[in-house]
Amino acid sequence: MQQGGWMGGTGLGMRREPEVTVEVHVRPGDAQRALRSEVLAGLCGEGGLRELSPKWLYDERGSQLFDEITRLPEYYPTRREREILLAHAGDIARASGADTLIELGSGSSEKTRLLLDALRSTGRLERFVPFDVSEAFLRQAARAVAGEYPGLRVHAVVGDFERHLERLPKGGRRLVAFLGGTIGNLKPAERARFYGQLASGMEPGEGLLLGTDLLKCRKRLFAAYNDSAGVTAAFNRNVLHVLNRELGADFAPEAFEHLAPFDEENGWVEMRLISQRAQTVKLPALERYVNFAEGEVLRTEVSCKFRPEQVEAELAAAGLYLAERWTDAAGDFALSLALKR
Ligand code: SAH
Ligand code: AVI
Repeated sequence: MQQGGWMGGTGLGMRREPEVTVEVHVRPGDAQRALRSEVLAGLCGEGGLRELSPKWLYDERGSQLFDEITRLPEYYPTRREREILLAHAGDIARASGADTLIELGSGSSEKTRLLLDALRSTGRLERFVPFDVSEAFLRQAARAVAGEYPGLRVHAVVGDFERHLERLPKGGRRLVAFLGGTIGNLKPAERARFYGQLASGMEPGEGLLLGTDLLKCRKRLFAAYNDSAGVTAAFNRNVLHVLNRELGADFAPEAFEHLAPFDEENGWVEMRLISQRAQTVKLPALERYVNFAEGEVLRTEVSCKFRPEQVEAELAAAGLYLAERWTDAAGDFALSLALKR
């Protein structure tokens, strides 16, 4: 089994580390099986678009590369969301009345500290629950937060937010944060399912704080996902390293070009890996070969861009009613606080 990737956990159900508790719902064997069946369906099928879920981008290296992306001059979403949190974390903390902050797709939880600070100022904060599929990165991030917030109970959950939302810890008054625009990495039907599952596990009055990237000039979108330093390209190609490591595949990552154009019809940026030549790739773990024609596309992620009213309507369809919405000064990004009725 591989080192440090999100399939590289210990497989123990629940145990106490020095500063945090960690609950594991994605065990290495489950992740391996899920990857195999997805690759069989998404890569090995005859005809049609080749596609993988974006969650496979985030082994430990992928999580580090994403962190680098957040500091790129072209990648505005993280800075814009931080700007909103700097201005409104206090409003959010007061409106939510929360003593527990759950963060889905938590990554480094870097911006989340602004929320934790604001919740702590209300005197109510008791518990932080970072939830992520990338185990090694989550453990590090959870330990870092626990070190910075003495007395805070940090309960990390290794899970897939498309499969394990019903396992979110109960109790107290919870605020669920889903930051960074990660909701945009789900397609419309996946989003509807996600909102429905999340809402059905929430108590009346509990809140969802949702970060969404807004529709904007195509040139800026293109620059944000095709950066000049090539970090997004490395992030995208990293999925081929994951397949090599996990399935014994022999992808030559440099034989695939990164391109992330905006798809006007669907309103999303689409991360693609484009085969630079006709090539055959071995997948020994599946006892298969995959042929790529020159120019053939493997889609690794979509990143939907929203109109604010669309976000509100999708939340309302799941029974989550918009309490407040904030945007940054440039109107690039929105944070919505929606409450379960
Ligand atoms: N919230 C952070 C990180 C965003 S990157 C920010 O705003 O900067 C997206 C995060 O979601 C990564 O940490 C990745 O590991 C996690 N992720 C992606 N798909 C996931 C899934 N299906 N279930 C749980 N976490 C997932
Ligand atoms: C995590 N997610 C919101 C990022 C995004 O912008 O869709 C992932 C990413 N993909 C390429 N760059 C960043």
